[in-house]
Amino acid sequence: MLTLGNHVWRRREINDYLEGAERVVRPANLGASAPGRGLVVVPAADGTPVAVVNLQGSLFMQTLVGPFELVDELVEQARSQAKVIVVDFHAEATSEKIALARVLDGRVTAVIGTHTHVQTSDARVQAGGTAAITDAGMTGPHDSVIGVKAELAIHRMRTGMPVRFEPASGGVRIEGALVECDPEGRALSCEAVRVPVP
Ligand SMILES: [Fe+2]
Repeated sequence: MLTLGNHVWRRREINDYLEGAERVVRPANLGASAPGRGLVVVPAADGTPVAVVNLQGSLFMQTLVGPFELVDELVEQARSQAKVIVVDFHAEATSEKIALARVLDGRVTAVIGTHTHVQTSDARVQAGGTAAITDAGMTGPHDSVIGVKAELAIHRMRTGMPVRFEPASGGVRIEGALVECDPEGRALSCEAVRVPVP
């Protein structure tokens, strides 16, 4: 499964693709008439149905509908189709991500934060059995400014002028989160993953 975020509409070529895509979700709290969907259920390798939900934060981001407005209904829809539910919360603010993880504790398997590209040290299983991490981090070049060649990002910040960003290449590592759960979808462990790529 692939989840998206605030850059979903950056290239319009994706619009038609999203309409038919069954393994890609975009944030559910964008315009209701926008292409694509924010909840998809797919079989895991052993056939277990896994619901994947994508939501976008509203603090320090332009987001049409507040995530807390529709999260309950969205999670109810997911729970009617799968016991294992993964929520990707694509958001800027740590407080908003921690709050959503608390709201969903006991109702989903994991709430995984994304967007900042910086992995946080708070991987945990909450009291109700929902795994959470505020940000899973970035798979990509870490010798950079969140993936972009540092000199280009700095030039834009110094001058305020538009700069064409290019991806950096050094310090590549895989980052993410590993969650184990039982057949009922209750998380047993949650661990941040950080693997250098030689
Ligand atoms: Fe993002």
